[in-house]
Amino acid sequence: MNIILMGLPGAGKGTQAEKIVEKFHIPHISTGDMFRRAISEKTELGMKAKTFMDKGELVPDEVTVGIVRDRLKEPDCREGFLLDGFPRNLVQAESLEEILNEWNKKIEYCLHIEVDVNLLTERLAGRRVCKSCGATYHIQFHPPKQENVCDRCGGELYQRPDDSAETVKNRLEVNRKQMAPLLQFYAERGCLFTIDGDQPIDRVFADIAAVLEK
Ligand code: AP5
Ligand code: ZN
Repeated sequence: MNIILMGLPGAGKGTQAEKIVEKFHIPHISTGDMFRRAISEKTELGMKAKTFMDKGELVPDEVTVGIVRDRLKEPDCREGFLLDGFPRNLVQAESLEEILNEWNKKIEYCLHIEVDVNLLTERLAGRRVCKSCGATYHIQFHPPKQENVCDRCGGELYQRPDDSAETVKNRLEVNRKQMAPLLQFYAERGCLFTIDGDQPIDRVFADIAAVLEK
């Protein structure tokens, strides 16, 4: 199963990705997570990505496409993969198509989690992420059992630096501009599925599972 999870910042891509990979046993490839890992390891890639992420801008396409290509080559992606946060513009979508064509593969599902943009600021402001395992919580909508402690691994929860009000505004604007042509690209290929993301987390997942199990 070759899947793309698409949606504006805060739409719930990371939250749903955790559930999809658990049920369908495919690797989760999040470009945002890859960049954050590189930043914490202080690699050259991390240093470069940080300058863009701190401002809510997209990391340049040649960098992003390169790391996705390398990741997709790994053996665990042979039977399928879940891309989260990639592609984010037409250049990336076309590059992905070329890469997959080379391997006689294609995207089977582009799942667009649609949420009214006015709800996203609140979702991002209240988000907390586990430092150890990356699990995502929300102080109001999906709170951990114990404040600031991850249910899954006991790790400490933190707030992402790009969830500050000023950066969120720019992230939403940058991503909104790119979204419409991307959706059209996958609609033309007959693999676009729109999911109502303004429902409780488990309901959103039930709708996703229904599409993937059809
Ligand atoms: P990335 O990490 O991909 O961030 P993003 O796209 O901005 O998405 P988020 O992770 O913020 O949101 P999400 O949709 O995963 O929502 P979540 O599930 O956490 O990218 C970060 C940066 O990296 C980019 O700005 C860019 O600089 C760079 N980058 C990454 N990919 C790139 C690319 N391809 N090209 C160039 N640059 C790239 O949910 C949000 C909150 O809402 C959580 O608190 C959650 O608990 C809560 N929530 C989730 N679902 C629900 C629900 N149904 N109801 C109520 N609350 C909910
Ligand atoms: Zn954890």
